[in-house]
Amino acid sequence: MKATFNQLTAFLLRHQNYWRFEPFLQSLCSCYPTAWQEELPPLIDWLNTLDYQYVEAMQNDPKRHMTELGQFFPDMMAYQQLLEQSSLTTETVQHPLADEARLLTGVPGRKVAQILAITHEIERQPGVKGPWVEWCSGKGYLGRLLAFRYQAPVVSFEYQQALCDSGQVFADQQHLPMHFVQGDAFDASASQLLTSHSHVVALHACGDLHTVMLKHAVANGCQAISFSPCCYHLIQAEHYQPMSLTAQQSALLLSRNELRIPLQETVTGGERVRRHRQTEMVYRLGFQALGKDVLGFCDYETVPSIKKSLLDSGFAHFCQWACDQKGWVLPASVDWHHYQRIGEQQFLLMEKLSLVQGGFRRLLEWWLILDRMLFLEEHGYDVTVSEFCTRATTPRNFFIQGRKRHSR
Ligand SMILES: C[S@@+](CC[C@H](N)C(=O)[O-])C[C@H]1O[C@@H](n2cnc3c(N)ncnc32)[C@H](O)[C@@H]1O
Repeated sequence: MKATFNQLTAFLLRHQNYWRFEPFLQSLCSCYPTAWQEELPPLIDWLNTLDYQYVEAMQNDPKRHMTELGQFFPDMMAYQQLLEQSSLTTETVQHPLADEARLLTGVPGRKVAQILAITHEIERQPGVKGPWVEWCSGKGYLGRLLAFRYQAPVVSFEYQQALCDSGQVFADQQHLPMHFVQGDAFDASASQLLTSHSHVVALHACGDLHTVMLKHAVANGCQAISFSPCCYHLIQAEHYQPMSLTAQQSALLLSRNELRIPLQETVTGGERVRRHRQTEMVYRLGFQALGKDVLGFCDYETVPSIKKSLLDSGFAHFCQWACDQKGWVLPASVDWHHYQRIGEQQFLLMEKLSLVQGGFRRLLEWWLILDRMLFLEEHGYDVTVSEFCTRATTPRNFFIQGRKRHSR
C-alpha cells in the first residue's frame, strides 16, 4: 500500500498542471493553461474538436472518459485499473431483510440504499460486530439497522439535539438497543465514547469530523472501524494535514480548495439541475466579461448566490440583479448578446478544462483514502477499502474498514 501511495503521489505531482487549477477562473482568460500549450499540444487540438454534446456524453460515461484521456496520459489508465483492483467493488443493490422495512420508514431513498450497502459491507468482514458507536449519526439511520441485525448496543453520537431526540424516540418505539448522546466531536470528552470494545462506524462524516474520530479510535484501540469519508475540504487548517507518516513525508501538499476537487462531479442532480447550472455559469462568466469592459473589473469579482427561479428572466436581468447586489451601475446601452455569447464560449471551455481535471479527480480522492488506510495500518489495523454503492447513489462511495490486529 505504501508503494502504491508513493507512486500515486509521484503521478499526481507529475501531472499537477492538469488538475491543480480552478476551471471557472481559468476559463475567464478564454484560453488553456500555458503549460498545456507548451507540454501537450495534441491535448489542446483534441479539446478544440469537442462540442458540448460530446463533453456531456463523456461526463456521463466514466469509462469512455478515462479511455479518451488515456490517449494523452497513458499512466492514468494504469492507476485507474490499480484502483479498481484494490477496492473491492460490490455495488450490488441490497434489499432490507424481513421486518427491516419498518426501520427505514421516512428514510430518503438514496440513504436507504447507502445504509443497506454499508451494512452488507460490514457483514462481509469477519469478526465480532458491535457494540457499536455511530459517529455523527444524524437520526441514527445506520445505527437502527445495526442494532436490529446484531441486537448489540449502539451509541449514536450527534451534535444536533433535535436529531438525537427524534432518533431516540424512534429507537424506543422500535425497541432498538440504541442510546443517543448529544455532543461535539471536537470536544476532548468525545473520545471517552470509544473504547477497546467498540466497533465505530460513520457514514459520511465530513472532513475533520472523521479524522478526529480516527485519531480517537486508534488512541483508544477500538477493535474495529468502518467509515465512509466525505467533504475532505471541511477542515480547520488552511492546508490538508496528512494523517499517515507516509503522507506526512510526501511532497504533495494540498490546499483546502484543492480538497474540493474530488467533490466536483457535475453528473448528479438530473437534467433540470444540469440546465440550471449551465445557465447560471454562462451568465456568471458573461457578467465577468461585461464587468471587465464596462465596469472596470481588473480581477474576478464575486457575485452572491442567486435563486434559481431568477435565472429564467434572462441574462440582462441577471446582470442588473448582480449590479444591484454590489452597488455597481451599468451604462444605458449594453450589447447583451455579445457578452452572453462570451459566457457561452467560456462555459464550453470550462467544461473541457473540467473534463481533463476530472480524469484526476478519483485518483486524488484515492490518495486521500490511502492516507487514511495507511494511518490505520501504521496503528496496527488490517485495512480494506470498497466502493459500497454506485456513484449514482452517492459519489462518496469509498468505504474503509480496519480491524485491530491483536483483537482476533
Ligand atoms: C453528513 S451528516 C451525516 C449524518 C448521518 N451519518 C447520515 O449519513 O445520515 C453529518 C452529521 O454530523 C453532525 N455533526 C456536525 N458537526 C458535528 C460535531 N461537531 N459533533 C458531532 N456531530 C456533528 C451533523 O449534525 C450531521 O448530522
